[in-house]
Amino acid sequence: MQFHIEREKILIIDFGSQLTKLIGRNIRELGVYSEIITPEELKKIKNFSKIKGIIFSGGPSSVTLKKFQSVPMKIFEKNIPILGICYGLQLIAKLFGGKIKPSKFKREFGRALLIKKNVSLLTKKFFSKNSVWMSHEDAVIKLPLSFKIIASTKDSKLTIIENAKRKIYGVQFHPEVSHTENGKQIFKNFLFLICKIKKNWKVSSQKIRLIKEIKKKVKDSKVICALSGGVDSSVAALLINKAIKKKLICIMVDTGLMRKDEFKFTYKILKKKYGLNIRLINASNIFFKNLKNISDPEKKRKIIGKTFIKIFEKESKKYKNVKFLAQGTLYPDIIESKSSSGSKTSKIKSHHNVGGLPKVMKLKIIEPLKEFFKDEVRILGKSLNLVDNINFKHPFPGPGLAIRIVGRITQEKVKILQEADSIFINELIQNNLYDKIWQAYAALLPIKTVGVMGDSRTYENICLLRAVTSNDGMTADYFNFPKDFLDRISNKIVNNVKGINRVVYDITSKPPSTIELE
Ligand code: XMP
Repeated sequence: MQFHIEREKILIIDFGSQLTKLIGRNIRELGVYSEIITPEELKKIKNFSKIKGIIFSGGPSSVTLKKFQSVPMKIFEKNIPILGICYGLQLIAKLFGGKIKPSKFKREFGRALLIKKNVSLLTKKFFSKNSVWMSHEDAVIKLPLSFKIIASTKDSKLTIIENAKRKIYGVQFHPEVSHTENGKQIFKNFLFLICKIKKNWKVSSQKIRLIKEIKKKVKDSKVICALSGGVDSSVAALLINKAIKKKLICIMVDTGLMRKDEFKFTYKILKKKYGLNIRLINASNIFFKNLKNISDPEKKRKIIGKTFIKIFEKESKKYKNVKFLAQGTLYPDIIESKSSSGSKTSKIKSHHNVGGLPKVMKLKIIEPLKEFFKDEVRILGKSLNLVDNINFKHPFPGPGLAIRIVGRITQEKVKILQEADSIFINELIQNNLYDKIWQAYAALLPIKTVGVMGDSRTYENICLLRAVTSNDGMTADYFNFPKDFLDRISNKIVNNVKGINRVVYDITSKPPSTIELE
């Protein structure tokens, strides 16, 4: 088992909870390096000298079943502090002889009030009138041997437990979510009072190490990169550019399916302000030709993915001595691809990214952002002076506006949509709403409806607006706009965009809907 970085760290064992990544972010925000690994990877670790603490995440498994995810008992013999969260607590209790009650009895979801029973290093400065966030079905009902109760709730007696001598702790609630008041204090105490690890993680100071590593890896060869103009590929390209300058060749493929003026704007900034070696390819005609009369969402996605790969491959053959392909892969992508829970989203839609490229082109991959969370990438972007317009841009899907025009795609529809979308996004920026929203866009629905403008009848397209809040795109809530904002947007779009006579706002969350329409 190889770690991303050889340095003192906190290990997080992922038992499949959706919240595991949040534990990782909490630890890193406290200035401590953490890595997330699977229980299988834990079994393969030979050298524990750099591991200063271990956290067991929550997860969907149940220790009341015959088979459940576990850890080798020898982990507890190493004098490394351990904190179990939710399933992690139940696992510790099970392994140390406690008793766990299965879900059919009493479940506990949502907020609960803590009742303090004993003092503990883990809860120093934590108790006040804390409400904590619970999400569990199984519960520990008999304390394991040599453990003590630190806190209870009305419904669960064993909410925080410890074996201070062996430095093993467990909490039934989720300190990693913002609904748990003061939850960060639990992590602070675990890290600095119990594990006694020192602060060793500052994203902006990783820049120099990353640049050195890229230089060492690439040597005299060339690196090619598909630059989309989004934050991830832009930060990756800027980092690599710092390391190898013109030996990085960036290719921007204009699919014709991007937001109004955005692609050219990004190209200009990245080329002029940062001196990136970029080749811009206008391929919109090929994309429109290949997408002609296609209305099935999955077909659209596949066609766009294949067309992109073909163009990129052809273009990259023009350069000699290219040995690497750079990608803006992030840490959550890596965790998701190996996690036991896996990414459900990718099964619902075939996401288009450059994942198919390395196999086709037989290149080695270089992924300078693979240790970082999205917000950390933005810190890196800031330290590279990346302009806010790119650094804080909302996510944009690879297939672009093609999956925001439901049904068949034409150049005319794209133009109409670009105008409406640009009005919406500019209004969000001007009203200081853009940064409060995870993702916002306009879409075109494939039906026309009747309207009246002046004294005339109109029969035009419906524009759908979507704006959601989210942490990672896996779940999302629609954004609650003030009525006057919606009134203004609707007027502005209908009055200024020929081809739209009705505006609707999407008020579904994810699940049951997805963020994109297709
Ligand atoms: P959904 O629609 O699945 O989207 O709720 C979740 C997030 O993923 C983005 N998305 C994509 N990103 N290639 C991408 O790089 C794609 O093919 C793709 N499809 C969806 C979407 O914009 C949202 O942020």
